[in-house]
Amino acid sequence: MSDKIALQKTFIQSVLESASKQLAKSKGLGKAPVNIALSKYWGKREPILNLPMNGSVSISLPGLGTETELSLISGEQNEISLNGEVLNQENPFFKRTSEFLNLFKTDNTQAFAMHTINTVPTAAGLASSASGYAALVLALDDLFQWQLPVEKLTLLARLGSGSASRSLFKGFAQWHAGEQENGLDSYAEALPQQWSEFSIGLVKVNVQQKPISSTAGMQNTVHHCDLYQPWPQKAERDKATIIQAIADKDFSTLGATAENNALAMHATMIATWPPILYWQAESVAAMHKVWQLREKGVEVYFTMDAGPNLKLIMLEKDIPSVKAVFGEDLQVIQPFKS
Ligand code: DP6
Repeated sequence: MSDKIALQKTFIQSVLESASKQLAKSKGLGKAPVNIALSKYWGKREPILNLPMNGSVSISLPGLGTETELSLISGEQNEISLNGEVLNQENPFFKRTSEFLNLFKTDNTQAFAMHTINTVPTAAGLASSASGYAALVLALDDLFQWQLPVEKLTLLARLGSGSASRSLFKGFAQWHAGEQENGLDSYAEALPQQWSEFSIGLVKVNVQQKPISSTAGMQNTVHHCDLYQPWPQKAERDKATIIQAIADKDFSTLGATAENNALAMHATMIATWPPILYWQAESVAAMHKVWQLREKGVEVYFTMDAGPNLKLIMLEKDIPSVKAVFGEDLQVIQPFKS
């Protein structure tokens, strides 16, 4: 067993200490939403346990996400299907998911059969890996009847993909960076506030596979960007500001902080060598549209992740004005209304 797998298994054992010990069911089910970070996770202080340099805060999008069904089968090889297509063992999604699933094998004569349906385009910068690992961990919890508290499930989802820790929740959530080397204090939790007018707009610039994964992109940034050093502190400050703005329903502060946080994250990417630029010409054109709307008094902001698409942040009253500018390219989601 490699050192990496040994460390991950030890971590999982610590998380599962309080799990209920029952026989596995015949089938486990899990369902989780995608989430959009309002202040971003960018950089790992420890890549094997996926421990972040900084905390982050997010909003989940109901209706967009992943549903996963999991069962145990005899044999050594896992079987994985994605959106109805059976994947071969060379497929990158198969490899990454299978490595994760193997950490949870209790018996060498058994493997997993996993069927996953994504309602977001895979790897399009809409964080399908976040909902994917969150749904998978929920399916594992159901299959093995662990009955773990959600905070523990966030630790396991984090091991699959950092941002997945925040996808166990509806509404707003925060992921704590944590300090411990064992990773047990780097968990996510829901923020209690509801905000019925709060709205997200998805501007689809491009839904093709991204050129560099977020995992590789953030590692390159940490190691090859002279501007990275102030990022973790800024990100923690922005996270605190956004959490306070949510509590105060202070939309202007929330929007401005989120947009600035995203641009600062992308600035560290651009200042990496070789450069990492997820933007396309259409992304920049969309930014200008947002800024022109703001000049006209329409309070709309944007955020962007490891892809070319913009996510707009606005209040319900401004949806018509924003739709008038973005037209068919815009899908509006009201997280607290569905
Ligand atoms: C830009 O969670 O996909 O979307 O932990 O390596 O799987 P891994 O990375 P991932 O990174 C997400 C980066 C981001 C910002 C965010 O969601 O906070």
